[in-house]
Amino acid sequence: MCILITGGAGFIGSHTCVELLNEGFDIVVIDNFSNSSPVALERVKELTNQDFQIYDVNLLDKEKLDHVFKENKIEAVIHFAGLKAVGESVEIPLHYYQNNVTGTLVLCEVMKKHGVKKLVFSSSATVYGTQAKVPLTEDSPLGAINPYGRSKWMVEEILRDLYISDNSWSIALLRYFNPIGAHGSGRIGEDPKDVPNNLMPYITQVAARKREKLRVFGNDYPTPDGTGVRDYIHVVDLAKGHVKALGKILTSTGAEAYNLGTGVGNSVLELVKAFEETTGVTIPYEILGRRPGDIATCYASPAKAKKDLGWEATKDLKDMCKDAWKWQSTNPNGYE
Ligand code: WQD
Repeated sequence: MCILITGGAGFIGSHTCVELLNEGFDIVVIDNFSNSSPVALERVKELTNQDFQIYDVNLLDKEKLDHVFKENKIEAVIHFAGLKAVGESVEIPLHYYQNNVTGTLVLCEVMKKHGVKKLVFSSSATVYGTQAKVPLTEDSPLGAINPYGRSKWMVEEILRDLYISDNSWSIALLRYFNPIGAHGSGRIGEDPKDVPNNLMPYITQVAARKREKLRVFGNDYPTPDGTGVRDYIHVVDLAKGHVKALGKILTSTGAEAYNLGTGVGNSVLELVKAFEETTGVTIPYEILGRRPGDIATCYASPAKAKKDLGWEATKDLKDMCKDAWKWQSTNPNGYE
């Protein structure tokens, strides 16, 4: 029996593969490498001294996906594959709905055909509405404000309907907050294409002097220092959360959402300060206007995941900065 990881070559997928292999699971990975590198999987094998099958498959290719299920005794699926850039989703929404929603529909059809009804889904804190009060609980009102977040929200609703139609399914909907950092070895990490959308990879590229300075998008928010507050979580903590969620779905049925965050909010300038103190590298920055679509503050209540999954984040902001910098400084051009 093995665990199928879709999008296993990606940032969170590759870190989860490491944790699963270290826990003794057998895995099979599918990825279309549209936004990831096969090198990440070579490094996963190196880090764990384990081998596993890799298939270059686009989820929309039902026949190729069916073949993977025919060739492997799959017990459960952890589904990372999907597009995740908020700004890009506004420009090309159909591409996002096709990949994220239709891709998941195809996956569920093939799973059903092969009697595989255990699924961990990579959701996101962007499913919460902008009016939702912090700390966000799983019962906070939903209301995504961009096609990326709406695609995650739609898939959550589809999976809840799937469970209602057939109670033998077991589904965990994992709502990520802001994953940053890298595996402590520095061998795998975040490898954004082009100019990084997200804060931490931009900071590490400024630190590597690949970018001149950090643009801080707004310092007039109703927050302690005026800059945006987010719940940054170490990607290894996040990966371990997936292992716990897998354990849960292997021994129960249902369709439940879980926040995977630290429960702590930090501002942009707090992250910059923590990075400088941890690495000794200065981060020049300039204050610009707010980025459209951004909210002031977002952080989780992770109480449900602690209670139901026996999981909580253990790494702090300095760990995240140290590990992010080790990845960047030892892999200046990512997996290239
Ligand atoms: C964080 C803070 C920015 C870049 C996004 C996705 C979300 C999830 C995580 C997938 C904000 C500020 C950023 C920069 C800045 N991904 N910032 N300068 O927007 O909270 O969440 O990534 O699930 O879906 O929406 O993360 O890192 O882009 O921004 O000042 O160059 O940093 O304004 O306050 P975000 P982010």
